[in-house]
Amino acid sequence: MKNSPESIENRENTLAQPQSRATSADDSLREDSPSEGGGFNRRNLLKASTLFGGGGLIAQAMVPARASAQQTAPSGAPRAEGPGRLQYKDVLVKARERLYPTCRVCPVCDGVACSGDGGGIAGSGTGMSFQNNFTALQHVKLMMRNVHDVTKADTSTTIFGRKISLPAVCAPMGPAATKFGKGMTQQEWFDSIVGGCVAAGTLGAVGDMLTYPIEDVKRNLKVVERFQGKALYNSKPIPNEIILKWQPEIDATGAAWLSVDIDSGPKSVAQLKELVKAFKMPVVVKGIMRVDDAMRCVDAGVAGIAVSNHGGRRQDHTAGIAEVLPAVAAKLKGKVPILTDGCVATGSDILKYLALGADVVMVGRHILRGAYGGGAEGVALFVNKLRAELQGAMVLTGVPSVSKIDSSILYT
Ligand SMILES: Cc1cc2nc3c(=O)[nH]c(=O)nc-3n(C[C@H](O)[C@H](O)[C@H](O)COP(=O)(O)O)c2cc1C
Repeated sequence: MKNSPESIENRENTLAQPQSRATSADDSLREDSPSEGGGFNRRNLLKASTLFGGGGLIAQAMVPARASAQQTAPSGAPRAEGPGRLQYKDVLVKARERLYPTCRVCPVCDGVACSGDGGGIAGSGTGMSFQNNFTALQHVKLMMRNVHDVTKADTSTTIFGRKISLPAVCAPMGPAATKFGKGMTQQEWFDSIVGGCVAAGTLGAVGDMLTYPIEDVKRNLKVVERFQGKALYNSKPIPNEIILKWQPEIDATGAAWLSVDIDSGPKSVAQLKELVKAFKMPVVVKGIMRVDDAMRCVDAGVAGIAVSNHGGRRQDHTAGIAEVLPAVAAKLKGKVPILTDGCVATGSDILKYLALGADVVMVGRHILRGAYGGGAEGVALFVNKLRAELQGAMVLTGVPSVSKIDSSILYT
């Protein structure tokens, strides 16, 4: 689709067509149900006005994109940045063309325009958990510190013995993410998100769906192998016997860790212990919001925890992650690595989560936009942008290295 005002108008008209919607809890639990567009109602009018109100992106969309289809090939090695190369704003234009109407690539990704979509990129139900993640993080405020001699900050850190260029890795996003808008193949998807993250010096993420189709699992494991284990591997919380069947293959990939998203389905301490015992790689339990759950994970011997509400895609009306993270960090900081996620869009967002007690953040939707808009190159552009922003924010809060980030840089 061309970036003409006319084609944008057509896309807005699509928004006004009555369509059926998949909103059942079951559908959203499967992570494989792309959202449907909404009907002609007040909410969708609001959504449409959000698009026009945002202005910036629409204006960008009217400028012919510099990125050719070739430049934005979803797989393959990212090219060097520089004049004439793909720019991040072009990535967003392309992402909107490819993701619409599932994701509108809003100038601010806050879960409002997609609220109530169900499935897709939206939060579950009313979308309040997604919005609460956003709002809670916006309420965290930084304090500048400018009398010091820190003129350059080191954004690199280490997790489970892996050095990464910034304290941010890709959040697990399974094959559901390939079905949005114009969609892409699983191969293109995982090549993009892993290839882009690795090119930017950090870890990608690979994962499967609840049904674990054998051919998909095999192909996805190969992606991790090809990138020499520079990715985490997420397993859905399916019965342990199925996960354990794949344990030798998963361990053989050399993935950085096994993530299990128990916010898609609980596991008992005994079941977690069984996984920890069987896997050679570190096991990280994702989907922790409470101190007591975090402590149970530690009792089970997990290597790390991920404080997350799955981007608000599982349970409506949860607290925002920035609200619950400090209590978990107060108990566990320094004992096991604490990962977290929820609406990380900028380097300042990373700094805030680290000041609240996280060791490393995971980034979901914004990496997805990069992948749809520019393949591995789009992802690398976004991650490098995060790193540059984090570097600047660390200097202006007077922290020379990641290990020196603490709550003293927050306004309380
Ligand atoms: C399209 C999509 C698919 C996802 N699939 C998974 C998944 O399979 N496993 C998982 O643990 N989390 C999954 N997530 C949740 C992300 O890992 C992450 O927790 C969430 O998106 C919050 O990060 P964000 O606000 O940066 O998007 C998915 C998220 C999206 C947007």
